Amino acid sequence: MADSRIPTGDGVSPSVPPVNGGPKGTPLLQLRGVSKSFGAVQALSNVDLEVHAGEVVGLVGDNGAGKSTLIKTIAGVGPADTGEFFVEGQPVKITSPQISSRLGIETVYQDLALCDNLDVVANLFLGREEREYLRSLNETDMEKRTLQVLRTLDVKLPSVRTVVASLSGGQRQSIAVAKTILRNAKVVLLDEPTAALGVAQTRQVLNLIRRLREQGLGVIVISHNLADVFEVVDHVTVLRLGKKVGTFDIKSTTAEQIVAAITGAEFGAILQETNGPSEGI
Ligand SMILES: Nc1ncnc2c1ncn2[C@@H]1O[C@H](COP(=O)(O)OP(=O)(O)O)[C@@H](O)[C@H]1O
Ligand SMILES: [Mg+2]
Repeated sequence: MADSRIPTGDGVSPSVPPVNGGPKGTPLLQLRGVSKSFGAVQALSNVDLEVHAGEVVGLVGDNGAGKSTLIKTIAGVGPADTGEFFVEGQPVKITSPQISSRLGIETVYQDLALCDNLDVVANLFLGREEREYLRSLNETDMEKRTLQVLRTLDVKLPSVRTVVASLSGGQRQSIAVAKTILRNAKVVLLDEPTAALGVAQTRQVLNLIRRLREQGLGVIVISHNLADVFEVVDHVTVLRLGKKVGTFDIKSTTAEQIVAAITGAEFGAILQETNGPSEGI
């Protein structure tokens, strides 16, 4: 299970408690005041972000806005310089991918990190040495578990013994996401999951994201495709030049407003109105 808590290290509570008890309760994952620089480049300045169980949050922004850098701080691949992280209200320090994973956070990168020469089952259980309950499974168990997870996600494949190289882009994305489910993810981070996909496959992946939401997971999805964003997310957080412009409820926001936030156009007044008090969500 992914419920082991990583202590904050210094044992000191944050000065301000995380936001609790709102209509949606404690976020599964909350970031506050996250900053990170690469030499002279301030890639992230004081960014807040949160995702609740059963919620899909879109992360959008122009090239270089800091989206991937932000995801990497959560994934433990490129830890933040400063900032507070909370998982289900508990302060955590995410200093490595292993810690991120142990906290129930799984990331699907654009390259998907699948082994083309192996079949679906083998890909799903690669790296199972990290999980005791996965390690204990035999081939028949693994095949059963694979079918079960794929059914949960409504993914259809010719056979789970198909070599991954022969699958479509959408199916490959599905396998990468199924892997996060097997690892008991609570929060799934997706970096541009539809970037390389055609229309039908994009549809498949958007459906997959909906299934994750139905399963009660929190999903953070980076996308430059606003049509995708509008179809599947509940909230969208816009980054611009490493700063959070705002978090918008997708139901009460137009594509023009999002574009304005991304580009920093002069729609500021409209955005404030829609977004309510500057803190978003
Ligand atoms: N490893 C790195 N070394 C130096 N600069 C980086 C590195 N990663 C990202 N950056 C810089 O940080 C900023 C944010 O980049 P990134 O997070 O990749 O943006 P996005 O994913 O929104 O396109 C950019 O200015 C980028 O050049
Ligand atoms: Mg990026």
